[in-house]
This record gives sequence, structure tokens and C-alpha cells, in this order.
Amino acid sequence: MSDIRNDGSAVAGSAAASPGGELFSEERSADVVAASFADTPDSRLREVLTALTRHLHEFIKEVELTEEEWTTAIEFLTATGQKCDPVRQEFVLLSDVLGVSMLVETINHRAGGGTESTVLGPFHMVESPERELGANIALDGKGEACLVTGTVTDPTGKPLPRALIDVWQANEDGFYDVQQPELQPERNLRGLFSADDEGQFWFRSIVPRYYPIPTDGPVGSLLAATRRHPIRPAHMHFIVTAPGHRPVTTHLFVADSPYIDSDAVFGVKESLVRQFPLVDDPTRAAELGLANPFRTVHFDVALLPLSAAEAQGAGHVDLEDRP
Ligand code: BEZ
Ligand code: FE
Repeated sequence: MSDIRNDGSAVAGSAAASPGGELFSEERSADVVAASFADTPDSRLREVLTALTRHLHEFIKEVELTEEEWTTAIEFLTATGQKCDPVRQEFVLLSDVLGVSMLVETINHRAGGGTESTVLGPFHMVESPERELGANIALDGKGEACLVTGTVTDPTGKPLPRALIDVWQANEDGFYDVQQPELQPERNLRGLFSADDEGQFWFRSIVPRYYPIPTDGPVGSLLAATRRHPIRPAHMHFIVTAPGHRPVTTHLFVADSPYIDSDAVFGVKESLVRQFPLVDDPTRAAELGLANPFRTVHFDVALLPLSAAEAQGAGHVDLEDRP
């Protein structure tokens, strides 16, 4: 046993008190470490660190973690950090494949009558260009044509005129424009639309394809080691906003897409899955400027009203306000 002098050196023969006053032991490890956070002035930080300590210690005891395994874990986390750069966020990807992104997202956006939310994903990295209602966001004209329609309302069905609908999706080969700058036109399959006076929106696009999340980093190795596939089922991304309402970040999933029941990031919610029926109507196709036959999909979005407190801090970005 030793005591600590003012200069930090140990004095043999007396006990070294931990910050909480109790020596470390296997049985009481979590309590000893949790006690060290007792004086944290920020009560939320104290609560989170204390719970984290308890669960982490419980987990290590449950699996009797070996020193080799802990070293492997540290090396994995180190590699995860090293894979990050300004456009690649491997930690978020790790959180995605562990279902943590979806859990945090879901508990913070309980639907309560509004459209359910899902993960943002890494490909909203460029701003969507403003487009007129009806515009075709498939700038390269490739893929199976699709008319997308919907209405933005509050949970009672009251339309939200001029709601903003930000859309982005992968192409028919399962790549976003930013992944193929040499092959796809800039801002291909992206658009920012302003709903009409009845809250309605419509635009032309293509049916998206399923695609793999990035697998060339530690998260890819984790999936391979656990025999998990890296595929996300076909989807379109949406962020919908309206003044005085809670924005929603969500997807529209293609009902018969492969992998619809095994999304690599657990993003599928039943309420977000839609059929994309085929329409064979040359006259309608010509009116729309689409090849016949074409697909259609309808996606109504309900936004929750902001509480007075939330409204104080929240802003709606008008198309005119955007740079
Ligand atoms: C996406 O849908 O764009 C996505 C989401 C999570 C991880 C990777 C991609
Ligand atoms: Fe995506």
C-alpha cells in the first residue's frame, strides 16, 4: 500500500485512495470507477459516464474479455479513426452497422403521428440544387423512369404549403453522384423542391437500386468476419421541413427490393416501404415526358408541430434564404 505525496510520488506502506476513496477490485470495479465521476459538475455528463462505466464493466465481466481481445478492440478502433477523413466517417458507419445510429435516431424522433425517420447516411454531402416541381432529377436520363408524388401535411392532414423537400438517391447501378464524379453529372439524382399551396410535390426520377455501404475499411472487415452482407435495400432519401414543424430525415424504400428484410444499417421501417407500380399509358407518359411504361410512387409526409420551446430554437430554411 502507498500514499501520495504533494509532488505526486508514492509513499510506501500506506493506501492509495482512488478518487472515490475505495480501492479497485474485480467485484466492485464499476462502483469504484463510477464514484470517481461523482463530482462532475455537469449532471448529464455524470449520468452518461456512470452508466457507460457500469455497462462496460458488466460487458467485460460477462464475456471475460482476454488481453488479446482488448488489444484487438483497441487496434480496431484505432483503424476506424485512421480511416476517417473530411468525407469518410468510419465511426458513423460503425455506429450504423451496430444499429446504434438507428436506435439513437428512433428514440430521439418518436413518430407520434408524424412520418417515421431513419438514418441520414453519408451521401448528403453536397447541397441539393433547387428545382421546379415536376423537374427530372435523373440528369443522365439513365434508369427506369419514375414519377414521385406526395403531400406534406401535419398529423391531422392539414397541408403545409411551401414545405421543402430535399431528395437524393443512388442511380440504377447503386452509386451516388459523389461516388462517380467521372461518370455521373454533378448533382445527378438530387433536388430541393418547394411544395405548392396545397403542400403537394411531384418530380421525375428513376427507380433506385440497392447498393453496398463502403467496405474498404475496418467496418467492412467486421461485416466479413461476421458473415454479414453490406447491402442497403433500394431507397430514396428525404429531408422534409416546414415552418413551425419538426423536420424529418427519412427514406422511401422500394417494396420489392432485394435486401428489404436485411438492411445492413437496420434503417427499414415498415411505414416507409412503398410499391412502385408500373404504369403503361403512352399518353400520360408523353404528357410527363417519361418513357412508357414508367413507375410511380406516392409518399405522403406528416410533420409534427414544434412545441413552443422547440420553435424558439428552430428555423425553417426558405428556398430564398439559401445561399
Ligand atoms: C445511405 O443510405 O446512404 C447510407 C446509410 C448508412 C450508411 C451508409 C450509407
Ligand atoms: Fe442511401
